[in-house]
Amino acid sequence: MAAHTVVQTSNEPKDRSNLIPFSSRLKEGRALAQDVWSIFNAANLPADCLNLGQGYMNFAPPSWVTEAAGEALRSVAPNHYSHPRGRIRLRNAIKAFYGPQFQRELDVESEILVTSGANEGQYSVFTAFLEQGDEVIMFEPFFDQYLPSVTFNGGKPVYVPLHPPSADKVKPSSDDWTIDIAELRRAVTPRTKMIIVNTPHNPVGKVFTRKELEDIAAVAEEYNLLVMSDEVYDCLVYEGKEHIRIATLPGMWDRTVTVGSAGKAFAATGWRVGWLIGPPSIIQPTLAATTRIVFCTNSPLQEAAAAGLEQAQERQFFEIQRAEYTERRKVLTDAFDKLGMKYSNPEGTYFVLLDISSVKFPEDYPFPQSVLGRGRDFRACWFIALEIGVSTIPVSEFYCEEHANIGEAYARFSFCKDVDTLKEAAERLQSLKKYL
Ligand SMILES: Cc1ncc(COP(=O)(O)O)c(C=O)c1O
Repeated sequence: MAAHTVVQTSNEPKDRSNLIPFSSRLKEGRALAQDVWSIFNAANLPADCLNLGQGYMNFAPPSWVTEAAGEALRSVAPNHYSHPRGRIRLRNAIKAFYGPQFQRELDVESEILVTSGANEGQYSVFTAFLEQGDEVIMFEPFFDQYLPSVTFNGGKPVYVPLHPPSADKVKPSSDDWTIDIAELRRAVTPRTKMIIVNTPHNPVGKVFTRKELEDIAAVAEEYNLLVMSDEVYDCLVYEGKEHIRIATLPGMWDRTVTVGSAGKAFAATGWRVGWLIGPPSIIQPTLAATTRIVFCTNSPLQEAAAAGLEQAQERQFFEIQRAEYTERRKVLTDAFDKLGMKYSNPEGTYFVLLDISSVKFPEDYPFPQSVLGRGRDFRACWFIALEIGVSTIPVSEFYCEEHANIGEAYARFSFCKDVDTLKEAAERLQSLKKYL
């Protein structure tokens, strides 16, 4: 008998712990499966394990941004509801900062929407545009939140893999992860509604080239698809590689919504402030959705994010931040070079994929149940966390079950950590040598 049916038959104690059946959408959205974040979580790992797994910083936002947050908290209006579109100061700051990058005068009333992190903005787009059974194409590996956000809104994810660098590539870069446009075309059906592009890409670090984006744009145009361009790492592109916004390609503005995040830009992932930029035909229905989901985004931190964008240029904040991340990346990649291990040198983001297929671990190692039954990368990452003291994220988590084997060769390292932590991790990693 189902646990939720309560039938009074005798004086036996009844199980009242599961009276109400929960929605099947939790299962479809993989929301009930133990996710990688809760397995490779500080609570499950030794206390002295260095966390290079989760993509949040172990340093504070810039003080001039947190001071603006304090100021907002000490005043009246920013402690109350803001307009569902977002506080006007932030919308003005987004207009001024991003307008030139989109080569257009953005309208703060109809083309910019502040959301509760990029996540909620993306969720609201799905709510606004998906009909039951509509298909959403995403490239694998994909940011894991896309899947539940699509399925909770009745959509069906369709996966197109990025192809890893070929085995004979001696020093691969994230650019060696490639898309096959014919494969993308084959994934389109009469039910396809949207395609998600993520550049710079989590977890690969790939910055899509103009040619790749033009090819994707041609498919979107041919099949009349909405493009969600997740560009939350737009401020983290290295070595003069150009970040191209697909919305700026000919004809693409009208079908593209671009996603940004104050969390990534200002080392403030817990603030939950993000934004969407796009034409009124996409922003207005999304505004209707977000208004009924969260009503508005937390107000004081919108003021702080506004201060960040207002002052970034004058302070050369993003240039300095990029240089700092370049140094952080080098600490890690030098350690991998010293070990003679292959990795995809990232052109963007704060992630680097290490090829862990050469790491040998005893099959009878005391792995927890949560790791057994998952890909080899889960066991390798667990072993590395316990034996080396550095935690990372197994990449098969970012693939659908059918393609998980592609991800099994990689561990994702986050370098959004201070240099001392990274140096300590680099030193510890040298003891991996004995397991290669
Ligand atoms: C590719 C990508 N998109 C969106 C997000 C979510 O951003 P936010 O924290 O602003 O919701 C993340 C966060 O890790 C991400 O990696």
